[in-house]
Amino acid sequence: MGSELHPKKVTLIKLEQLSSNVKLFRLKPVGWEFPVGKGGLVFNPGQFVLAGIWGYGEAPFGPASSPFERGFIEIGVRIVGDVTTALHRLKEGDEMTLRGPYGNGYPLDFFAGKDLVFVTGGCGIPPIASLIEYVIAQRKRFGRIYLLYGALSPKDLLFEKRYKRWGESIKVILTVDKPAPTWKGHVGLVSELTREIDIKPRNTAVAMCGPGPMTAALENILRPLGISDRRIFVSEERRMTCGIGKCQHCTTGDKYVCLDGPVFYYDQVQGNWD
Ligand SMILES: Cc1cc2nc3c(=O)[nH]c(=O)nc-3n(C[C@H](O)[C@H](O)[C@H](O)COP(=O)(O)OP(=O)(O)OC[C@H]3O[C@@H](n4cnc5c(N)ncnc54)[C@H](O)[C@@H]3O)c2cc1C
Ligand code: FES
Repeated sequence: MGSELHPKKVTLIKLEQLSSNVKLFRLKPVGWEFPVGKGGLVFNPGQFVLAGIWGYGEAPFGPASSPFERGFIEIGVRIVGDVTTALHRLKEGDEMTLRGPYGNGYPLDFFAGKDLVFVTGGCGIPPIASLIEYVIAQRKRFGRIYLLYGALSPKDLLFEKRYKRWGESIKVILTVDKPAPTWKGHVGLVSELTREIDIKPRNTAVAMCGPGPMTAALENILRPLGISDRRIFVSEERRMTCGIGKCQHCTTGDKYVCLDGPVFYYDQVQGNWD
């Protein structure tokens, strides 16, 4: 995609309703190609792109597709305000804009050889979904891998179609606050799922993306397990405008989420939840 500021044209080639308020957008470049970076990656899982529509503006999204995929990129868009409402009005075949990828992403080389725990809640899963595609494609490089994912109810769990395939390579553990009669998984908080994992704490890294309260609750569980703050990586969300460290819209403490993040060590952002 190139890191330049100018938005590039993409076509919405596939739309999928993931839940009542989230749609998955599959986007294909028009007249250009995704540049392929280090290790054959189009982006680093955890980086973000700015997707937009002329006349409405842009918003940041963490790609959810495999970073090895060169033909398209997928973003999961929750309807929130002006830009996301306009995006949800688009139909397959419509054109929109994309720029990026920006930010750092999760530390993929640091993850090599370690047990990994991915923790996410609600609509925080897109960048974790792309991280899962990455580790599955390189499964032998990692130890045990867990996804701990919680949502309000079963119909709010996103990327359901991928769970079976993911479950062949990693352990997928789901929980909901409000179960439906047919629900067979856990009921309760994501933080309670840490009881289900079997890891070597001193050789474990954690990747998180989700609501502030979930992240804060996990602190009390992960630390006693012996996982140090410098092995816990948290993706932060802030409102963004430029995406490249020029407007100060995205600060957390003295850091820019767009430039220094969005992925931080736990102790860098502790307490700065939205
Ligand atoms: C790095 C990063 C990755 C993201 N990845 C995804 C993703 O994969 N999928 C997804 O659906 N969303 C993601 N988001 C959030 C998404 O960017 C916002 O929902 C979007 O910018 C809202 O734009 P809007 O114009 O529709 O809403 P606006 O009209 O700008 O805002 C509507 C309301 O929501 C509040 N709001 C908007 N954005 C934020 C925010 N980031 N934090 C707190 N409050 C906010 C505003 O204060 C306002 O009250 C990500 C954000 C960041 C920073
Ligand atoms: S979005 Fe402009 S400085 Fe981060």
